[in-house]
Amino acid sequence: MKNTASSIDNKKFLILGCGFSGSFFAKTIRKLGLTALTSSRSESKDPNSFVFNSENGIVPNKKIFDGVTHILNCIPPDTNGEDPVLNILKNELKSLSLEWIGYLSTTGVYGDTNGDWVSESDQPNPLQRRSLKRLNCEKEWVESGLPVQIFRLPGIYGPGRSTVEAIKNQKIRVITKKNQIFSRIHVADITNAIIYLLKNKDSLKFHQIINIADDKPCSQIEVIQYCYDLLGLKMPKPIFFEEAKKDLSPIAQSFWMENRRVSNKLLCETLGYKLIYKNYREGLKNCFLNSLKKNKLKNFL
Ligand SMILES: NC(=O)c1ccc[n+]([C@@H]2O[C@H](COP(=O)([O-])OP(=O)(O)OC[C@H]3O[C@@H](n4cnc5c(N)ncnc54)[C@H](OP(=O)(O)O)[C@@H]3O)[C@@H](O)[C@H]2O)c1
Repeated sequence: MKNTASSIDNKKFLILGCGFSGSFFAKTIRKLGLTALTSSRSESKDPNSFVFNSENGIVPNKKIFDGVTHILNCIPPDTNGEDPVLNILKNELKSLSLEWIGYLSTTGVYGDTNGDWVSESDQPNPLQRRSLKRLNCEKEWVESGLPVQIFRLPGIYGPGRSTVEAIKNQKIRVITKKNQIFSRIHVADITNAIIYLLKNKDSLKFHQIINIADDKPCSQIEVIQYCYDLLGLKMPKPIFFEEAKKDLSPIAQSFWMENRRVSNKLLCETLGYKLIYKNYREGLKNCFLNSLKKNKLKNFL
């Protein structure tokens, strides 16, 4: 990414929900020399962090919002399916001179397509209750009158949270289901795609809803096999989903009930974003090398 003067220079970012994606985004934005304050549900030693917790009603001090121009909301809907940010901070946000709010949503809103491709122009058709609630959150954001842009994401992985770590931590279930396809995205591409869109805001047509997914939806077993190969280990014999499902939590089961390929054509063809990790092979190699570098595979390999 070119580090030239652009439409995000001198902007102040608030990252609501500094979890996996939020912290990657904050770190990257700071490397570009920009200010990024981040929220979490409990106190942290980081001077750039503040507490926002809709569960116990802790709201950020008003001073936090001073001069904020950009917000990235990475907080999922609460247990009632409502958006914590809109629920509690909507009036505060409306009082600011915001230029942009990014909302991380999910491709779960598309429901099951029997393995077919889905794009932003397809009508969402949520299958799960939580996806219906997510779609309602998206609608509320659109109707809020705030300058929101929604990013629909498939399974997010990256250094520290991938199948490589799942194998190492023995949290892997080697399950297979005929013709079942999943889409995924490396966390670095979420961050970089968003920064690319912001930096080129003036020259690109605005789209309110954008999928961020890699080029190669594929079966989970293909990904698991690749990670075992990277680690130089023999993959255990896969268990068929029908047999494995009795031991899966309802939420884990629900992921296997939806089968779709998420299209990134709007982002990568129409808008011209170039993926850093085009497919799971490139992305997982990055996770594997990162683990090696950080000595996380010591005593394992
Ligand atoms: N993970 C995936 O594969 C995936 C796929 C598609 C879409 N998504 C969606 O994309 C977004 C980002 O995902 P992620 O995996 O990066 O998220 P994550 O690591 O789980 O982080 C979520 C963040 O939200 C904060 N949070 C949660 N509930 C909150 C509440 N009630 N009030 C205030 N803060 C709250 C958490 O606070 P703490 O830091 O204190 O925990 C955390 O910082 C989420 O909306 C997620 O549902 C995720």
